[in-house]
Parts: sequence; C-alpha cells; structure tokens
Amino acid sequence: MVNSKPRPADNVTNGLYNQDILTVRQFTPELVDYVFGVADEMRTLVERFGSADLLQGKIMANLFYEPSTRTSSSFMAAMQRLGGQVIPINSVKYSSVSKGESLADTVRTLECYADVIVLRHYEVGAAAEAAHWASKPIINAGDGVGEHPTQALLDAYTIQRELGRMENLTVGMLGDLRFGRTVHSLTRLLLNRDVTFRFVSPRLLRMPEEIRDEVTNAGDTFTEHRDVMEIIDEVDVLYVTRVQKERFTDLADYERVKDIYVITPEVLANAKEKMVVMHPLPRVGEIAYEVDQDPRAAYFRQMQNGVFTRMALLAAVLGRA
Ligand code: NCD
Repeated sequence: MVNSKPRPADNVTNGLYNQDILTVRQFTPELVDYVFGVADEMRTLVERFGSADLLQGKIMANLFYEPSTRTSSSFMAAMQRLGGQVIPINSVKYSSVSKGESLADTVRTLECYADVIVLRHYEVGAAAEAAHWASKPIINAGDGVGEHPTQALLDAYTIQRELGRMENLTVGMLGDLRFGRTVHSLTRLLLNRDVTFRFVSPRLLRMPEEIRDEVTNAGDTFTEHRDVMEIIDEVDVLYVTRVQKERFTDLADYERVKDIYVITPEVLANAKEKMVVMHPLPRVGEIAYEVDQDPRAAYFRQMQNGVFTRMALLAAVLGRA
C-alpha cells in the first residue's frame, strides 16, 4: 500500500510527491537528508518572513480520532505558514464519525474537499487502511501503538541539529517503550546508523519483540535496563516518554508503573555535558520542571522543529518543495 499512488517521472519532482507517509520505513537516508534540507529552508523562511505562498490554493484536512495538541497544531501552523488552508476535524465526535461513518467513507469524503489528509487514529494500521481507500495522500499522525513517522523525523532532525549528527550515537529511550509509538518509529529511523540503543523500562513496558528483532537484524545493538542510572553517563540522547495510560486494559497495571521514572537535575548531574534530553510531550511528571533550564533540555526546541519538518513534508507531498 505504501507508495501506491501515481507519481510523475522522478526528474520533475521529489520522491514524496503525491505519496502517503505511513511509516518511517519509507525514508531512505537520502530522503531523510532531503527532508532535513527543506526543513532548514523552512526555518529560514519563517524567521525572515513568517509565511510564504508556496501552498496557496491547497487544502489539508486534519482528521484526529485521538487527542492531540502538538501534532494537530503544528500541522495546521505548517500549512498556514505556507499559505494553505486547513479543514480541522480535531474532535471526531462532532463529525459524522459519531453517526457511525466508516474510516473508508470519511477519508473519501474529505478528499473531495482537501488535497492531503493528516490522520491520527487509535488503531494500528488505520493510516494504511485510509491510504488504501483514498486517492489523495494520507499522512500518518499516529496510528495507535504503531508508528508516528512525522514525529520520528522531527526527533531525528532535532538530534541532527543539537548534536551535529544522527550516526554513531548512544541513544537511551526511557519509559513506555511498549505502547509509545514515537519510540517505535524513532528506533526504526535510526537503524543502520551505528547507533547503540539503551532501552530503559519496567518489564511490563519493554520495547516490543518485533522492534528488538529489527534492531538485531540491522546489525545494531541494544541493551535493556530497569534503572536509568545504569546508562545515564554514556547516552548522547535521553529520549523520555509518558506512560500511555489510554493503552492499558488494566488500570491497576498503569498505577504500578506510572511514576516509575522522574528525570531531575540530580539524575542529569551524572550525564555527559554534551547530550540532549528529548520528549515528544505531553509530559505527566517524567521530567521535573527544574530540568527545563538545563541547556541540554531540548524538548521545547524539538516542538519548534516539528513545524519546520511538517512544512517540509507538506511541501514535498504536495509537489512544491
Ligand atoms: C505523542 C503521541 O501522540 O504519540 N505525542 C505527540 O505526538 N507529540 C506522545 C504521547 O502522547 O505520549
């Protein structure tokens, strides 16, 4: 289903033109570099002019079946800064979804009005299903515990900007590695780049076997830990995640693990001087507010990078990059 939509000859456009963005597996290292290059241009554009008319006349539908602040607003900001328009369906309960309309019909409706559909859904594979039905491009903005490819791209872009490289790194991922789709996508995006992964979680929230196998099959290495202090002194990136309460079937399990990690200045006292603390946000206690002042705390810059990355992706998918 990936890359199933017609695309003009490659010499007239880029590899993302008219394509769905469903998984980070679509992104070759060359394509990642290309997106980062365009994101840099978008940053300059926003800093100098605030907006442009690159996507004037284009419309993006933002279809969100799950809560979102950052992903939905940054996609809207990205579209509007490029001169495009947005149909925001941020609360599907007020749309015909609450009348029982299927995803297939909802996306085939929205593509009558829009040129691209950004979809967040609670089911793994929903974006691929939507892409199957739609003839306009679908951008996966999170499909259940599956993937969140645009978040992984903005995360990798942040790593590149903060540390000057996204290769040859030790990356600690901490918290809910089982249900957190952002760490699934980011791990995949960092494969084959000489990255050593340190997965820190309680046993209940281990990185899924499928992804651990992908790391091994790529010839990369990972170790698993319960205690962040075992890895804090060696990581270049500490990627912190929220325990995903909404994914638990047994809330007693959630209560047992919800407060298991809190990154404080005392924890970071043991970290390298040049490293970054990242978080896709929202945080619900796993990073103390006192950490925000630390120059290594990159999560606010990470959010800002999300707009530039999404501007680059929208421009590319709509053929104007
Ligand atoms: C993340 C998500 O939705 O997966 N948020 C985001 O998009 N920035 C992480 C989370 O909700 O914990």
